[in-house]
Amino acid sequence: MAESHPRPHAILFPYPYQGHITPTVDLAVNLASRAFTITYVQLEFVHHAISKAHDGVGDVDFFVEARKSGLDIRYTTMSDGFSLEFDRDLNLSEYWEGMMRDFPARVDELVGSIMRSDASAAAFYLVADTLYTWPAAVAKNHNVVNVSLWTAAATWFSINYHLDLLIENGHLPYRGNGDNCINYIPGVRSISSKDLMSYMQDPDAVPVLMKIVVKAFEQVKNADFILCNTVQELEPECLSALNLKQPTYAIGPMNFSSDFTKMNVEKSLWAESDCTQWLNSKPPASVLYISFGSIVQINKKEIVEIAHGLLLSHVNFIWILRTTDALPVGFQDDVKERGLIVPWCNQNTVLSSPAVGGFLTHCGWNSVLESMWSGVPMICYPFYVDQPTNRKLVVDDWKIGIDLCDGGRVTSEGVASKINMLMRGKSSIDLREEIKKVSKILRNAFETDGSSQRNFDQFVDDLRVGLYSRREEIGSIK
Ligand code: UDX
Repeated sequence: MAESHPRPHAILFPYPYQGHITPTVDLAVNLASRAFTITYVQLEFVHHAISKAHDGVGDVDFFVEARKSGLDIRYTTMSDGFSLEFDRDLNLSEYWEGMMRDFPARVDELVGSIMRSDASAAAFYLVADTLYTWPAAVAKNHNVVNVSLWTAAATWFSINYHLDLLIENGHLPYRGNGDNCINYIPGVRSISSKDLMSYMQDPDAVPVLMKIVVKAFEQVKNADFILCNTVQELEPECLSALNLKQPTYAIGPMNFSSDFTKMNVEKSLWAESDCTQWLNSKPPASVLYISFGSIVQINKKEIVEIAHGLLLSHVNFIWILRTTDALPVGFQDDVKERGLIVPWCNQNTVLSSPAVGGFLTHCGWNSVLESMWSGVPMICYPFYVDQPTNRKLVVDDWKIGIDLCDGGRVTSEGVASKINMLMRGKSSIDLREEIKKVSKILRNAFETDGSSQRNFDQFVDDLRVGLYSRREEIGSIK
């Protein structure tokens, strides 16, 4: 870098899942574009997965293009304390128990050494995913500003933030499948208890999840800033209510924020199949895109019902399936003219194709944002964590999607009928009208003076000035 004056230095710690990595990479690029030095800390196993996805073997220099264009983004890897071969998905509880126990000390040491290596930095900022349980302690130990990055909906954040209210009102621990109305969480539109996050409804399924949330949301109350990958106009009341407690900035959808799109940043954990040519051969709005994100393990029975539903519906489709083993015999031959099955793709490229007319989604937050951005209405099939809550936003609040199975189990007839509702006729037109409006809201957010652009500018100003005065203004958080 030609400049010699001291720069602020932000140290970024993404959560090791695709849905968290993508927005964190975008934040890194955007902050670097505002003359921040960035150190992006990648877990070794993620680094290996991305390297493997992009060139088969070697070490991909993650931000090479960004650096070439003059941005000061440093990239470093660290071990999470587990071997590369350890199956983190299969051993989720063991992994995250270990991460809560042993990882904070490693982070603390690394932050110290990064700070020592840049003695001329104007200031240091710790920017870590909200779901980590250690940022407040590490930030305090090194006396740096603590920025909490929430990569999902403000509604989900707010429900986690108010666990005390859920307990006070008897909704936690969860009391069964009763359709209880929760209307006391500041800024959160009335929500049924059946739309709460899976780890609240069924805490025993993966007990470590609730443990992470409790700890993470205790510590986030000490954050100096909260960044949220949502849009002001989508969740205005929720964001205003949070902002009364702690400075919160809606800066989403982050993977469409200006500078990044121009840059080739490798961030996909799997190799992407190119669907462009196939899509170009299909009529406008005729293709259903089906993906359940990066974490969900869909079972064989569900795959078979969806496959039969696709046969009945006669629709064109792209289906993201990591393995085709569970598909009914002969299915791929039967649909070879109208179906493309691939293990992974560039979802944004697919969704932005004029050929795509609908998205059968698990309601992962990034998928919801990406679908809204491209104006593609959704069929919602949530599995766990925040997906049931996102479904409620998409179907009940924003009316840009429909449910796949209305609470019952998934059947081939149900799948076919919902595909018809989404892709054809009056219901399809209505959904398309609504999502067009939402798409406009998202795109406007990045226009000059759009809300996300403004909020990001404000955040950067506040970071530079130091927010302590503003914290005093709004009253303290505890
Ligand atoms: C999970 C949660 O479900 C999500 O709500 C939470 O906020 C983060 O953790 P995930 O299940 O992976 O994430 O879903 P999602 O948030 O939708 O993220 C998936 C990402 O993978 C999207 O950005 C999507 O574009 C990308 N993707 C998916 C691809 O690039 N290619 C594919 O083939 C499939």
